Amino acid sequence: MIENPGLIPRAELHCHIEGAATPDLVRVQAEKYNEDVSRLFDDNGDYNWHDFSTFLSQYDVAAGLFRSAEDYALLSETYFRMLAAEGAIYGEVFVSPDHAKLAGLSYATYLDALGEGIMRARQANGIEGRMIATGVRHFGEKSVEMAAQEAVNTPHPLMTGFGIAGDERQGHPANFAKAFQIAKEAGLGLTAHAGEFGGPESVRGALDFFGVSRIGHGVRAIEDADLVRRLVDEEITLEVCPHSNVSLGVYENLRFHPINRLRQAGVKVTLSSDDPPFFHTTLGKEYVQMTEVFGWDQLVLAEMTANSIAAAFCDDTTKAKLQEQLDTALAALPQQ
Ligand code: ADE
Ligand code: ZN
Repeated sequence: MIENPGLIPRAELHCHIEGAATPDLVRVQAEKYNEDVSRLFDDNGDYNWHDFSTFLSQYDVAAGLFRSAEDYALLSETYFRMLAAEGAIYGEVFVSPDHAKLAGLSYATYLDALGEGIMRARQANGIEGRMIATGVRHFGEKSVEMAAQEAVNTPHPLMTGFGIAGDERQGHPANFAKAFQIAKEAGLGLTAHAGEFGGPESVRGALDFFGVSRIGHGVRAIEDADLVRRLVDEEITLEVCPHSNVSLGVYENLRFHPINRLRQAGVKVTLSSDDPPFFHTTLGKEYVQMTEVFGWDQLVLAEMTANSIAAAFCDDTTKAKLQEQLDTALAALPQQ
């Protein structure tokens, strides 16, 4: 079931569940726990931050208002319902053993709750969702290894990947190789944030030391032609989040964003929203604005969704179903 007939179905591979909490939902949570969150928001009621460090700390303050299993179920249900309402058929979210700990929840309770929210949204709208356990790089290699170990020790049918987020400029990639090895041996799909604040060397490090099939962002690979060729040759998929990159100052505006050049060079690119309310975006907005900025037509948008499906960390049966939904929508497009 797609909620927006006539739209090319959309799919997202890169969204942090704690970063998907809207200001409205956070205000409801603050009231529930009788917390003062005025410093979280600006005069317009939007998240108040001004650089990557203040973004990360505000992100943690907002996340701190999700404390019970039901809070987390509500968070994932709300996000996946919003995604479906924008015509998405699939979404993957980064989940964080570290944030479960900060909330005082066991990782199993946290995962079950998020899974419950995903299943409620699926029941309502047919949207499929999966989770990617994530280590935080600036918490250090031991913490990331523990996140991988916890992911492996606490399986969940919807938890199908492992990744690393946080400040990619911290720690040599070799320090995190063991964490990825642990996750790989358990059969999890692998992705890593790189090429956002770090340059081409950071992307190369993720490929050399982590063995990932996807890179979160990866856009700064454009600065190195050999690396762009490597991404094409090794069929690496980039989880591109244009509004996030502009909001965090990686690029001055969307017109200067390299997604179109990467695509033209043959790199498999996809569209995602990262931490949508922090960056004033949604997956729908990413699809619509790329059309406006780069003149993409429906077929290019369908290519984005097809790339997401191909690189998704879900089973082949689910992939086939998603691809069929996309093919059906494509067949219904008016002939050009
Ligand atoms: N965690 C949440 N959003 C992030 C981003 N854009 N980069 C790195 N880590 C993150
Ligand atoms: Zn991210």
